[in-house]
Order: sequence, then structure tokens, then C-alpha cells
Amino acid sequence: MKVALGSDHAGFSLKEYIAEHLGARDKSFLDCGVSSEDSVDYPDIAVSVVNAVLSGECECGILICGTGIGMSIAANKHKGIRAALCGEPYSAKCARKHNDANILTMGSRVIGPGLAVDIVEAFFTETFDGGRHKRRLDKIEFIEK
Ligand code: RB5
Repeated sequence: MKVALGSDHAGFSLKEYIAEHLGARDKSFLDCGVSSEDSVDYPDIAVSVVNAVLSGECECGILICGTGIGMSIAANKHKGIRAALCGEPYSAKCARKHNDANILTMGSRVIGPGLAVDIVEAFFTETFDGGRHKRRLDKIEFIEK
């Protein structure tokens, strides 16, 4: 599973930490930036990760900003994107199992790197349960139309 990884300036160091973790686990990823702590606008990075997911180049994405909120709002404006802001592993598991989330967002000013890695692992371990959850996602898809 290839992962698109992106952050704004606030999330840069956590993104680098996650990239190192993914590399050590032999997980392939696409770094959509940023490459420094110079100030940027988080929607620009959100769009890069969203495009990588919607084009099929990557199966899912991780977006990090200060709170994870801006990235989540920006990503969820796109049809077909289900971005989940998670601050602990249980939500990350449910985001996959129940919501078939295709982007995980996190807040670098909210959680530490150890917890962030646990959240990422939980997100990637689970798969979509389908069934009644699919019916609910179909309703969200209908709202999108
Ligand atoms: C940047 O200062 C900050 O606003 C951004 O990283 C994010 O938290 C927005 O939701």
C-alpha cells in the first residue's frame, strides 16, 4: 500500500518522523511536502495528497498540520475523500473499519511522535468492515452528489 504523506510547516517535523518510520517498515510512500518549516498554507499540501489518492497513485494519505483540523477540512472538500482526524489509535482503527477513511490527519501540536506512530499503525492494520457501514457510506456519497 503506497501512502501519500504531507504536512504544512507546523507538521513538518512529525511528517519527517513518520516518513522515517514508514521507511524503516519498508512501506512505500510519496512525500508531497513540505520540505522545511517555512510557512505555507495547509490547503495547498492537502490538495497534493488528495490528488495522489484520487488518481490512484497512492491508496491512502496522511496529512499533518498543527491541529489536524485544517488538513481535515481541506481534504474533505473533495469528492471521494474520507479524511479522519485521529488523536488516538482506537479512532484510527474505527476510521478504517467503519468509515473506510482514505486519509488520516493528525495534529503535531496535539500529539507526540510516539502516539502518532501508534495511530498510523492502527490505521494501516485495519480494513473496511463493509456491511451496514457500506450503506452509511453510500448515503454520504449521495450527499456528495
Ligand atoms: C498553522 O499555524 C496552523 O494554523 C495549521 O497548522 C493548522 O493547525 C490548521 O488547522
